[in-house]
Amino acid sequence: MDLKRTDFPPGFLFGAATSSYQIEGHGFGGAGPTHWDTFAATPGNVVRGENGARACDHYHRFDEDLDLAAGMGLDAYRFSTSWARVLPEGRGTPNPDGLDFYDRLVDAMLARGLKPYATLYHWELPSALADLGGWRNRDIADWFADFATVLMRRIGDRVYAAAPINEPWCVAWLSHFLGLHAPGMRDIRAAARAMHHVGLAHGRAIQAMRALGMRNLGCVTNHEYTMPADDTPEAAAAAKLYDGIYNRWFLGAMRNAEYPTDVLELLAPHMPAGWQNDMAVIAEPVDWLGINYYTRKLIARGPSGLPGDFRELTAGLPTTSMGWEIVPEGLHYFLTWIDREYAHGLPIYVTENGMSADAPPDRPADDPERIGYLDRHLAQVRHAIADGADVRGYFIWSLLDNYEWALGYDKRFGLVHVDFETLERTPKASYYALQTALAR
Ligand code: FCB
Repeated sequence: MDLKRTDFPPGFLFGAATSSYQIEGHGFGGAGPTHWDTFAATPGNVVRGENGARACDHYHRFDEDLDLAAGMGLDAYRFSTSWARVLPEGRGTPNPDGLDFYDRLVDAMLARGLKPYATLYHWELPSALADLGGWRNRDIADWFADFATVLMRRIGDRVYAAAPINEPWCVAWLSHFLGLHAPGMRDIRAAARAMHHVGLAHGRAIQAMRALGMRNLGCVTNHEYTMPADDTPEAAAAAKLYDGIYNRWFLGAMRNAEYPTDVLELLAPHMPAGWQNDMAVIAEPVDWLGINYYTRKLIARGPSGLPGDFRELTAGLPTTSMGWEIVPEGLHYFLTWIDREYAHGLPIYVTENGMSADAPPDRPADDPERIGYLDRHLAQVRHAIADGADVRGYFIWSLLDNYEWALGYDKRFGLVHVDFETLERTPKASYYALQTALAR
């Protein structure tokens, strides 16, 4: 790895990211059922029907995992908290073991000198709330703010930074229009409502955390570098709409209090009445922006010709084992574009970037391509900083191999290999490369 710590501005943070359902072991510690449990139990949704019941058993092994994070020389650790672990019914009586767990987890980070970056929601909605319509129900904004209050009353004094929702696009569009994540809906009205309520819940949770006196609150959006697949006007129009839904909808609302007009043309007929009155809450001021970036998309119009129907193509670039093309310059594009259009002077963090790679079964910790991927993306972060973007940190997805949602345990994103039979952890070559680089 070419990188040295001193290539970055003083105080620049290096971290790794994980999420609760993907690593903790949701079956442990009295957590309530979530829509991911039932989505996974429904045939056809998840590879081999795998779920997060045991995952990496981080619930019992977090000390070892945080030792690994600190041992790499990281400054920060981005984790998420499970709503159903804290409130098994989504509302009402908290689970004391759940609150204790996050309390111990945060203390364990601090004891190792890792700054805790908390995300309140990384996709496992309590089933009791899913029964009430989940993200389609406007009341979710208040349920979520109440969850934020219950949890942060306990740990908010010690988390270094917090963001309400990981990747609103996945929560809303991927899960209610494309049907690829829980709750697996494919309905434009459901999607429009989720697209709005996720922002409202974000704003209400920011207010709730501010009311507790918390500082350093942010938002985390994911982005795909979007280009038309060919020179036709149809592909240009499709790519523009895709970019609007993916890259401009949530930042437009959260940062500029407005939805992009091109996307509104599609969604306005399906939006909840009076949505305009919520924009000020959605745009509640934050202190930093987090960007998750993995790949680009070449977009053409989908076979139905309906707006919102897209074909996704690739152009023969090297890909990760997810089939995602490796396009590091997309990260520079987003850091500089978001700095210009949406940051309004706030610092930006890369809150996720990384790759899945298959290792040879006899050498599971061999991951030269991950080292190259990280090197090339970090070079783009430096380039964006040189071009004036105020980027303050970079989190690798992920610390551990984990439950990759609908793709189960097949896709390995970790700097640390996990044997899902024995749960043994083995640092990969990328882990050691980073350790060396950060010590320079
Ligand atoms: C992101 C998610 C994370 C993980 C990576 C690969 O979209 O935030 O949970 O699945 O992709």
